[in-house]
Amino acid sequence: MEQKLVANQLQLSITNTGMIDAGLNVNMAIDRSVDRDGSILDYCRLKDITIQAWSPFQFGFFEGVFLDNPKFPALNQVIDRLSAEKGVGNTAIATAWILRHPAKIQTVVGTMNPERLQAISEASNITLTRQEWYEIYLAAGNELP
Ligand SMILES: NC(=O)c1ccc[n+]([C@@H]2O[C@H](COP(=O)([O-])OP(=O)(O)OC[C@H]3O[C@@H](n4cnc5c(N)ncnc54)[C@H](OP(=O)(O)O)[C@@H]3O)[C@@H](O)[C@H]2O)c1
Repeated sequence: MEQKLVANQLQLSITNTGMIDAGLNVNMAIDRSVDRDGSILDYCRLKDITIQAWSPFQFGFFEGVFLDNPKFPALNQVIDRLSAEKGVGNTAIATAWILRHPAKIQTVVGTMNPERLQAISEASNITLTRQEWYEIYLAAGNELP
């Protein structure tokens, strides 16, 4: 194509971290180390293509929203604590987790509910620390080397 690719929509949420996992577990003989997407995250960064995360609040393949979901008690405990500390809703914390990644990833949210959109947009008023980002990552059941 003559046109430059400016965006690539990829599945990414706190509970769908495949594109991030391999880079955090490089060169290890474990499942999380497997590069299943041709290093799409690295490729987009090198080519200045903006990643847009679809289904940012869903787990599985559109199985439902992980926020306030009893299937994810540890994750929601951390998210709710950070919500209280920062004075924003849980959707803002989940969005801020994606926005904090250095690739400057955008989110593609599905809701058309104005109140939800307002709450989600509060993510742009906060910045998670690295410690908070990794705490959320681990609370979702991920592991680090
Ligand atoms: N490029 C691709 O391959 C690809 C693939 C899949 C999707 N997409 C795009 O990505 C968009 C977003 O996908 P998605 O709809 O799965 O994303 P999502 O924003 O993770 O999920 C939105 C859905 O979750 C519901 N929901 C329930 N509780 C919620 C809460 N606390 N906070 C936010 N939402 C909550 C919403 O309901 P309410 O409507 O009642 O608010 C809505 O039905 C789609 O519209 C589509 O355009 C692209």
